[in-house]
Amino acid sequence: MDWRVPLADLNFGPEEEEAVLQVVRSGWLSMGGVTRQFEQAFAETVGAKHALAVTNGTAALHLACLAAGLGPGDEVILPSLTFVATANAVRYTGATPVFADVESTGWLTISPASIKECITEKTRAIMLMHYAGYACDMPAIMQLARSHSLIVLEDAAHAAGALLDGRRLGTWGRLGCYSFFSNKNMTTGEGGMLVTNEDALYEHLRIIRSHGMTTLTWDRHQGHAWSYDVVDLGYNYRIDEMRSALGLVQLGRLPEANRRRKQLTELYRELLGQRAPELQIPFRVSRGESGYHIFPVLLPPGRDRIAFMDGLKAYGIQTSIHYPPVHQFRIYAANRQEAGVPLTITEEVASREVTLPLYPGMSDEQAAWVVEAIEKVLHDEKTR
Ligand SMILES: Cc1ncc(COP(=O)(O)O)c(C=O)c1O
Repeated sequence: MDWRVPLADLNFGPEEEEAVLQVVRSGWLSMGGVTRQFEQAFAETVGAKHALAVTNGTAALHLACLAAGLGPGDEVILPSLTFVATANAVRYTGATPVFADVESTGWLTISPASIKECITEKTRAIMLMHYAGYACDMPAIMQLARSHSLIVLEDAAHAAGALLDGRRLGTWGRLGCYSFFSNKNMTTGEGGMLVTNEDALYEHLRIIRSHGMTTLTWDRHQGHAWSYDVVDLGYNYRIDEMRSALGLVQLGRLPEANRRRKQLTELYRELLGQRAPELQIPFRVSRGESGYHIFPVLLPPGRDRIAFMDGLKAYGIQTSIHYPPVHQFRIYAANRQEAGVPLTITEEVASREVTLPLYPGMSDEQAAWVVEAIEKVLHDEKTR
């Protein structure tokens, strides 16, 4: 479909093309020196000791769960208001996801009070997700984790470049996971990154990213090794050099791209406040610096969401829902006993949420047009 305002769009220029071309011409495509540069630049940007690039954000989450030692019999507390990959990664290890509620309809990240209610003697870890790039209540969560000896893992797929108390989101817990899927703040098409400050975790991750092997094809190509041993049950979660080259360019664009996302977010807030005050806009109070990944709004309770989204579609505006809650998917609903607490706020948010278009290349005029269309659709529905 040819959208007048799509939900998201690439933020690419000639530099991305040139970077990929250089890799193709170099004759070395699989994981090697460019990936190492990308990892080092990413680690430096977020202030982590180590960064490890992988095929996608889901692979990063899976490896984080494995490196944290999760397995059958362990419980992991996480939000249901997230992309299903967050919960699937826990299940890949045989551990049990236990869903906690979110803070409020005004702040859509996992609630520390709800986490506390979910803790049992089997709880090993908290896997949190910085929804839309806005920070979870990290001081409270870290305090809870310390007092119950729990591992904190961060799904920072939405949060590249975001900060809380001077510290990058993704670097608060023992392991942070990022996604570079094509709608993310920085993209390599498919791609992901893990970060950690712990040498032993990094070494383990490095080995299980590539079949559990002690050396890479790249090491042998460089003459550093002739053979290898296999010391763990690993995977092929390697990224390639084309994607790493894209990642390096995109990382450079991230601060400016996030600044533009912030400007548009502020413009939306101002215009919607004037012209569609019946919409509830979460994340209005200040808590750190968001990555402004998406712009969620909540429709008035009882309002027909599909009619609203169809109404905007008629104006050429693409919207989305973040998210159908994980505990309501058939495969998870079958295991409803896994839910630690009633997910009242999650269910309310999930039934009212609509995500509006947001991407760095969007103009002020396009944002104003979206708001104008929203005003008309809300008014038309009311008078229908
Ligand atoms: C919150 C969240 N977690 C995990 C993922 C999975 O990342 P990927 O698509 O790179 O596997 C995504 C993105 O798609 C996401 O938005």
